[in-house]
Amino acid sequence: MAHDEYETIKVSTEDAIGTITLSRPKALNALNDKVMEEVVAAAEVMDADPAVRAIIITGDGPKAFAAGADIKEMSTLTYSEAFHKQLGARLGRLADVRKPTIAAVAGYALGGGCELAMLADILIAADTAVFGQPEVTLGVIPGLGGTQRLVRAVGKAKAMEVVLGGARLTAEQAERAGLAARVVPAAELMAEARALAGRIAAASAPAVAKAKDCVLRALETPLAEGLRYEQREFWSCFALQDQKEGMAAFIEKRKPVIQDK
Ligand code: HXC
Repeated sequence: MAHDEYETIKVSTEDAIGTITLSRPKALNALNDKVMEEVVAAAEVMDADPAVRAIIITGDGPKAFAAGADIKEMSTLTYSEAFHKQLGARLGRLADVRKPTIAAVAGYALGGGCELAMLADILIAADTAVFGQPEVTLGVIPGLGGTQRLVRAVGKAKAMEVVLGGARLTAEQAERAGLAARVVPAAELMAEARALAGRIAAASAPAVAKAKDCVLRALETPLAEGLRYEQREFWSCFALQDQKEGMAAFIEKRKPVIQDK
């Protein structure tokens, strides 16, 4: 899909950083089918594009990253329809993107918005960010990983308070609980996200992809298996040209010429 064909997101690539901006500000960037399809399509295009080395996902406007799945679109769905269309499943495919993803969150990140932010590898929060999983108040439950990723990020006590009790986390609370990597002033959110993406983009892409893969593996494997997996991936790095160049450059006190090989 060409960049100008998207209807609900804005997409740009600059300095090796791809940015996907949810853009339905009048609906607080609520995630309707179209948004979910376009976010994943854009991320997949960027994942395959050698010119992109890191991907930022953010929301248009100061008020919301995303206020959840689109309630108006979902309200009349039957079980059969939700089942057959696999509601939300497509957006979950973001987890398959190999390049590093950064969620830059300002304002509301509720329901599917919070889940989308948690799908990213690194979450940077503006001091205006508000996180929550209010689904039970609507007669549903989180459907895009909220009950699984939140508990892994913040532990059972906080996750239960948020998922069952409708508690919202401020940016500060989200950072303290381990959901957000960092809180920054809202005006500096995108600059901070780009600076972080830029640091990632400067490193060897295959090494970054291996590192991401290993960290994510930790959420799914027992420690001993994860450690064995990491060792194999670590040893394989010595097949990379970037390892030879990176270490030689350090020893010769010069900047490495990274080739992604
Ligand atoms: C559709 C939404 C929406 C949503 C806001 N809007 N959230 N439309 N789906 N999730 C629309 C409103 O209808 C309104 O449009 C406009 O955005 C502005 O919202 P207001 O409510 O007027 O703003 P405000 O009073 O400031 O309140 C902000 C808010 C509130 C606290 C974020 O909008 C809110 O509670 N939204 C719903 C949050 C939520 O429950 N999310 C979980 C959804 S379920 P109009 O045109 O009506 O004025 C979910 C399941 C995930 O996410 C499963 C994944 C597949």
